[in-house]
Amino acid sequence: MSQLPLRDDLKGMHAYGAPQLDVPYQLNTNENPYGPSPALQKAVADAVAAVAGTLNRYPERDAVALRADLADYLGHGLSAGQVWAANGSNEIIQQLLQAFGGPGRLAMGFEPSYSMHPLISQVTCTGWVAGTRDADYGMSTAAEQVKKQQPDIVFITSPNNPTGTAVPLALIEAVYDMAPGMVIVDEAYAEFGRDGTPSALTLLPGRARLVVTRTMSKAFAAAGTRLGYLAADPAVIEALLLVRLPYHLSTVTQAVARAALAHRDELLSSVTALREQRDALVAWLRGKRFAVADSDANFVLFGMFEDRHKVWQALLDEGVLIRETGPDGWLRVTVGTPGEMAAFRAALTEVLGL
Ligand SMILES: Cc1ncc(COP(=O)(O)O)c(C=O)c1O
Repeated sequence: MSQLPLRDDLKGMHAYGAPQLDVPYQLNTNENPYGPSPALQKAVADAVAAVAGTLNRYPERDAVALRADLADYLGHGLSAGQVWAANGSNEIIQQLLQAFGGPGRLAMGFEPSYSMHPLISQVTCTGWVAGTRDADYGMSTAAEQVKKQQPDIVFITSPNNPTGTAVPLALIEAVYDMAPGMVIVDEAYAEFGRDGTPSALTLLPGRARLVVTRTMSKAFAAAGTRLGYLAADPAVIEALLLVRLPYHLSTVTQAVARAALAHRDELLSSVTALREQRDALVAWLRGKRFAVADSDANFVLFGMFEDRHKVWQALLDEGVLIRETGPDGWLRVTVGTPGEMAAFRAALTEVLGL
């Protein structure tokens, strides 16, 4: 690549991506471990068959029917005009940065948080300010930090990745009141929140600069479909129409996503089980005297390790792939089936001689 006239600011960068390894226990990318039932597989195949004869034509450019289904799922009185969809919430984030960030503009997040926020900022030539968190990964000083930095875009990840921490609505309101620009609440893991964990969707009325992003990759067990979406004021969506590529969302993606949404009771039925597995895992790890961040998501951050890479590698050698991410000394494990969790516990016990 070095012989190519690459953009100066991309020189020396490495392509991002968690390892995709063919091991028995893949607990590193916060996917839902439950695959679609035979009935849902058939519904998806039927939905694709129904549109297969139209694939010589471009897709429905504005995906209105899909957006209406997503609005119906989200509730809160939302309609298709307040919802936008793209290929994963990563593409949603990219479109938001293209429309509201760019050269001379600043985006801000509170680290540790989702590493794609700074990365997509960088590739869209948007400056990045790394805000800080409290010792327990809360964000009690976020509004003050926003006041000081005056960023054009603020990212609040709730529940946060990799810590699992959910953010109180009062704090989001305080950040919004202080922020001069867009406030993006990334709720990729919202469905896994413990009882009483609120969604920023309730804050949308009257807040034209607030955006809530969601994904079908996690609770919806549809990571392979690549479908992310947002809810916001219709003017935000008008702005995104300026930057989205024409026909960005394929006919097949729209059809599969709509079939999944029609079967949402089945897909979301795993959420309760995963929440229970998560809480059991947190209790087990704490019982073994690990430090464990409170989690409202489908993963758990635990530590502390003097040499986390060594532990990560030893677990991998046992066939258990977790994620080496977050603050130094910590590791993140995705919550899986009871069998996967038993394998993780057994491997950790073996590796650390617990
Ligand atoms: C906080 C957060 N936001 C967004 C995403 C992107 O999800 P997707 O592009 O699959 O919708 C992830 C994926 O891990 C995430 O952790």
